[in-house]
Amino acid sequence: MTTASAPAPRALEHVEALPRYVTAAPAPAPDAVLLASNESPFDPLPSVRQAVIDGSARLHRYPEMHSGQLRAELGTRLGVRPERIVVGTGSVGVLQQIFTAFARAGDEIVFPWRSFEAYPILAGACGATAVAVPLDAAGGIDLAATRSAIGPATKIVLLCLPNNPTGTMPAREAIAEFVAAVPPHVLVVLDEAYLEFTGAGDETIGLLARHANLVLVRTFSKAYGLAGLRVGYAVAPADVADALRRVFLPFGVTALAQLAALASLRAGDELAARVAAVVAERERVHRLLREHGWRVPRSYANFVWLADPGRAAPIGDRLRESGVLTRVFPGEGVRLTIGTPEMNDRALAALSGVRPR
Ligand SMILES: Cc1ncc(COP(=O)(O)O)c(C=O)c1O
Repeated sequence: MTTASAPAPRALEHVEALPRYVTAAPAPAPDAVLLASNESPFDPLPSVRQAVIDGSARLHRYPEMHSGQLRAELGTRLGVRPERIVVGTGSVGVLQQIFTAFARAGDEIVFPWRSFEAYPILAGACGATAVAVPLDAAGGIDLAATRSAIGPATKIVLLCLPNNPTGTMPAREAIAEFVAAVPPHVLVVLDEAYLEFTGAGDETIGLLARHANLVLVRTFSKAYGLAGLRVGYAVAPADVADALRRVFLPFGVTALAQLAALASLRAGDELAARVAAVVAERERVHRLLREHGWRVPRSYANFVWLADPGRAAPIGDRLRESGVLTRVFPGEGVRLTIGTPEMNDRALAALSGVRPR
């Protein structure tokens, strides 16, 4: 029985201290252009929709717990054994599994920052300390400073490649050198959510054979356009993969998500054409913004970064008033997702009235 004076249950202090994940604001008008969340601007592929419709006949059944069929297909394509692949609820779910399995209070998780906003939340949620290493002046990842930030309490070092929200990426050789320089007892996690937009091919897979402390994290949310279904995966050493499966939310990845991911893998050519279209648009938007005088780092992802610490909020407001939703980082800059040419033109038109500094 409760009494008026009894204290209500309180969450743990470290949970109450967690920053909140900022999601895209609601669209101000039905024709608003959604360029805030690095989603695919394209409707789902017909073959993928059909797979989901067909799968709905079995909604009364639990999904395959560890996405065996999807892991088998990924394993064949990536040339790794399926035991080394872990499928989770989006790559953010996979990251949560990694942090939960490898870090706790007193441990440190090191990552360059500004980066994907879920990192400090996930680190804090497992009680670990987030060690944020500032980006360099051009918005690039400072690998030397990141390496130096690894200390005796470090359990995980995490790189976002390419970095969200700046779009930058170190050279392939520098990444390989970095991974080799991390002490073997520290887990190195490469978040490759935007890998398909880099144009670099799948080079990090080759590093897995050389490093027993390396984990790659990937997603079907971005290039594959399945953000709404929540499916991503890690490729890891077998013992790491086993640990990640132990902390998996049982049945977290739905059967529909698994079927859609499988159908997407089989529609590789269609998806590659979509990625190529986004990359071509990224280059066009980048060029036009630079010509207009904006400071925009070269991007390897499906977004560009407008660095303007003093005016990020008013620029975001202006875009929003023009019906273009972007992700605004007050005091830092604005991240503009690349959409279709028509969407991008609306963003460029809104920005043409702003004089860059
Ligand atoms: C760098 C990075 N990693 C992971 C994610 C999470 O994606 P998802 O959980 O949809 O796979 C995002 C989403 O924006 C991201 O930018």
